[in-house]
Amino acid sequence: MRVAFFDSGIGGLSVMHRALSMLPADEFIFFADEDHVPYGVRSPDEVLTLVDDAFRFLMTLDVNAVVVACNTATSAAVREMRRRYDIPIVGMEPAVKLAFDLYGARKVLVTATPITINGEKIKRLIARLDRAEYVELLALPNLVDFAERQEFESDAVEEYLRRALAPYDLKNFSSIVLGCTHFNYFKDTLRKILPSNVRFVDGNEGTLRELARRMNIKPSAPRGRIGVKYFYSCRAIEGAAELDRIEKYLRRLDRMLDID
Ligand code: DGL
Repeated sequence: MRVAFFDSGIGGLSVMHRALSMLPADEFIFFADEDHVPYGVRSPDEVLTLVDDAFRFLMTLDVNAVVVACNTATSAAVREMRRRYDIPIVGMEPAVKLAFDLYGARKVLVTATPITINGEKIKRLIARLDRAEYVELLALPNLVDFAERQEFESDAVEEYLRRALAPYDLKNFSSIVLGCTHFNYFKDTLRKILPSNVRFVDGNEGTLRELARRMNIKPSAPRGRIGVKYFYSCRAIEGAAELDRIEKYLRRLDRMLDID
């Protein structure tokens, strides 16, 4: 079984990183649209075209399922991709429901890219949960650029986050939803800024459980090491320097896993 993880950039690695320890597949394909990242500040139509191109390429690799490891691409394109392709396509949306399930009816700060924050999908989700008065929405587009540059703990990152979070009275919040897969890299810097009552919530594990359900397999540790093929846009990544860059992200994600 070959599963593709697709994102505008390296955010999707945070989902694949989790899958490496809980999804018994034979091979993963990781596709980051590095030629076109960021998606979150483009128009939804532009994102749909980019996702369409990426899917055409992924289909030539005979994948059995695609995880759209990108909240932005999910919001702009997943419905259309499901209409076109007859394989399981699992998308992501900010894990607002999980935040309420875990922490009850208390305030939740939902962070994501501008497309996700301004999209209809999130409005519908919040209306469905009937919890609008407990939800604040915050777009953090610069985190995507910082992550792509592997800048995670600099003064500039900290200053950006402090400023963005300043308007909220954080002692009244139970949690912050990481509604963009690029945001998982910043849990240590965020932890320094957020009071301890604010816990992290993301949709990575839920997405993988949904994929396992769709593929009729049980989430469990894979028996052997899963081979991964990496692509930046449609180019195979095989050079040592580029593989080393990816390895650095994966090691950082190892460290982020224990921060809650
Ligand atoms: N990682 C993507 C997400 O989960 C978006 C990053 C971007 O703006 O390209 O929304």
